[in-house]
Amino acid sequence: MQNLANKKNIEPILEVQELKKYFPVKKGFFSKSTGVVRAVNDVTFSIYQGETLGLVGESGSGKTTVAKVVLRAYEPTSGRIFIKTAEGKRVDMAELDRKELKSVRKNIQMIFQDPYSSLNPRMPVLDLVAEPLQAYGWDQKKCVQRVGELLSLVGLNPRYMRRYPHAFSGGQRQRISIARALALSPSIIVADEPASALDVSVQAQILNLLDDMQEKLNLTYLFITHDLSVVRYICDRVAVMYAGKLAEVAKTEELFTKPLHPYTSALLSAVPDADPHQRWLEETVSGEVVDLSKEIRGCPFAPRCKYAIQRCHDVLPLLENKISDVENPHFAACHRSNEIELKGV
Ligand SMILES: Nc1ncnc2c1ncn2[C@@H]1O[C@H](COP(=O)(O)OP(=O)(O)OP(=O)(O)O)[C@@H](O)[C@H]1O
Ligand SMILES: [Mg+2]
Repeated sequence: MQNLANKKNIEPILEVQELKKYFPVKKGFFSKSTGVVRAVNDVTFSIYQGETLGLVGESGSGKTTVAKVVLRAYEPTSGRIFIKTAEGKRVDMAELDRKELKSVRKNIQMIFQDPYSSLNPRMPVLDLVAEPLQAYGWDQKKCVQRVGELLSLVGLNPRYMRRYPHAFSGGQRQRISIARALALSPSIIVADEPASALDVSVQAQILNLLDDMQEKLNLTYLFITHDLSVVRYICDRVAVMYAGKLAEVAKTEELFTKPLHPYTSALLSAVPDADPHQRWLEETVSGEVVDLSKEIRGCPFAPRCKYAIQRCHDVLPLLENKISDVENPHFAACHRSNEIELKGV
């Protein structure tokens, strides 16, 4: 986490606007009629140069889909994905063809959750880390040198570059993934649960490494996680996702202490040091999952929300700045955020 005291002068490096990703689904085995899963449904957010934006929300809320669409690993159904390139140009990645995309995509790289399945076991570390470099035409000699540098940077001995992934521990494998993601000197890293598959003792080391890398290389992070204690430690701002939509976006401390969306407050109640009286999410709504293939008229959280009134079921709340601080906006998509008193931690 960096000191963003002078954020006023910092521009967004990534701007996601009205992003949608609908997956087609066949309804029934013999039926030809198809529907859609609205995995990402009108998502808008910005990330500023050098900051870490956390993206949180329960399983199936659409976090990974956002990440994959932002990287154009999935084609967006609609929306815009503006990125500021190393040359300072603002480009809509959603509009680029494959060839144009290749030159812009250097700027944004992904780290995945599972360092066991994300590294091809048949490739030595050298080839794994050099693969993105080779795709951009680096020759073997330059690759070996660069991979050596990268391994040192992430705290691995460069002499191990001929070894295969099985020779490394989970934490070391995640270091290899990080080296690979850094190979092309990106400015933005999308990290999807980068530590959650690892032992607790190793998690902190990986998070510290990401923190160091951010400082050394002036990186910007989109950090996806379930773990709210990690969010508090690592993120400057947090975006809370629910059923393909953003429920709330605010600075980390503000979001933790003064949540404005009942879903955020419910998520916070699951944090270990939370007030036990708040643990209403599981109690009141257990087992209920939003069906993303159904069109929802009102607030997607309304069926689970203890504060919901008729309006919440009928009218979709927009993500709006709820406080009059233009420099530190606090966005929430809740009709009732100004009338209800929510607890933070
Ligand atoms: N390739 C796909 N085809 C069809 N549906 C998909 C596909 N990928 C994701 N989905 C659906 O989109 C929704 C969002 O999934 P996504 O993986 O983005 O959630 P997530 O927030 O990352 O969850 P988790 O915390 O479990 O990783 C889910 O309903 C999922 O089933
Ligand atoms: Mg995911």
